[in-house]
Amino acid sequence: MSENTEFSRERQIEVYVSGMAGDKPHVPVDVGRLRDAARERMSPEAFAYIAGGAGTENTMQANRDSFNRYCIVPRMLRDVSQFTTSTQVLNTQLPSPFMLAPIGVLDMAHPDADTAVARAAADENIPMIFSSQASRSMEEMAGVMGQSPRWFQLYWSKMDDLVVSFVQRAEESGCEAIVVTLDTTMLGWRIRDLDLAYLPFLRGRGIAQYTSDPVFMQSLKEEAAAPAPARKITLQSIQGLLEMVSNHPGGMLDNLRSGEAIAAVQKFIATYSRSSLTWDNLSFLREHTQLPILLKGILHPDDACHAVDVGMDGVIVSNHGGRQVDGAIGAFDALPDVVSAVDNQIPVLMDSGIRTGADIFKAIAMGAKAVCLGRPYVYGLAAGGYDGVREVLRNFKADFELTMRLSGCRFVEEITRDHIKRIE
Ligand code: FNR
Repeated sequence: MSENTEFSRERQIEVYVSGMAGDKPHVPVDVGRLRDAARERMSPEAFAYIAGGAGTENTMQANRDSFNRYCIVPRMLRDVSQFTTSTQVLNTQLPSPFMLAPIGVLDMAHPDADTAVARAAADENIPMIFSSQASRSMEEMAGVMGQSPRWFQLYWSKMDDLVVSFVQRAEESGCEAIVVTLDTTMLGWRIRDLDLAYLPFLRGRGIAQYTSDPVFMQSLKEEAAAPAPARKITLQSIQGLLEMVSNHPGGMLDNLRSGEAIAAVQKFIATYSRSSLTWDNLSFLREHTQLPILLKGILHPDDACHAVDVGMDGVIVSNHGGRQVDGAIGAFDALPDVVSAVDNQIPVLMDSGIRTGADIFKAIAMGAKAVCLGRPYVYGLAAGGYDGVREVLRNFKADFELTMRLSGCRFVEEITRDHIKRIE
């Protein structure tokens, strides 16, 4: 316990003193109102893509319900004047026990996209997990982060040499761990996107890691692109083509002439993920990186044990924010069995449904080392760009610190199962 920075007090004073001069926070503090503010700034397609889940969205609801079934039971008279919220996961230092979940296609939320998020994360020293489906290359994000910590999330492509290239680039970009997302070997059945007939990747969005990759781009040159399937020419199809071409690196006219933008989208769609992936593939990754490897999307305790057995360095309990298997177990419901199966051999993280500092506290009490924040920071980005993300991060830090201290805990390791109680 080294610090005693009273960050929560600093944040409260910042807000209330600004209020004396008539200023309100850039973005709403309440996550529900934040989501509404984000919705107002986004196209219906962007909002559907970010806010939506799979099927009936029952799993999105389960993520919240599972937190609500547990209450915090605060303890009194425990001298919480000396405290710290910082913690360490593997070799990464966290000022507060949360990091930023990998989220793709952030340019749908705001034109500054991943760069604004990376800057805000760095300014708050909160680790960011770069997405394989980012709108900016990992080099560009790393370039605005200084020494601030970052990890890389991998979608395992059908091209092994691309997997190796991504991992090498992540190492060179200063990433301290690789997170392999296991739950999205196919895209879930996302009703809102289907109703709007909108998939960002077809418009060349969210494929910046690929179009900035030498292996991927070389593969385009080696293979003649398959001719695009014949479609009706409509105003929308022309707009879609122009969007695709403008999202590709280089000049629009050159991209139109060369056909490279279309080829990149086709290649991405054909190769982005591998449904044949099994536990045996993981040794390939192990051979190609010295970095710790975490598996994201673990929900069953036996899969968690398996991760330990094959030498993985951590697991992230997650149902992808309810975007993959509708009807899947709430992530917080899945956490205790995974924690006991892993039995402290490797760190367990979690995401899906974290909306307040209290949720972070409950996850830690249930045995998570840290959590990943998802949609809330994207809503901050949509509603207020860099400032919006930064405020969201500051609010989560302050909220967690207050929850921890008001519950009678001085540091993260002091938060135990004894601090929460199931109410049904
Ligand atoms: C995601 N998520 C995700 N996960 C991942 O491993 N790679 C990715 O590129 C993405 N992209 C992505 C886009 C959008 C719009 C969302 C909402 C989510 C899942 C993400 O990392 C995390 O698991 C969820 O966001 C957690 O759920 P909540 O807390 O956001 O509801």
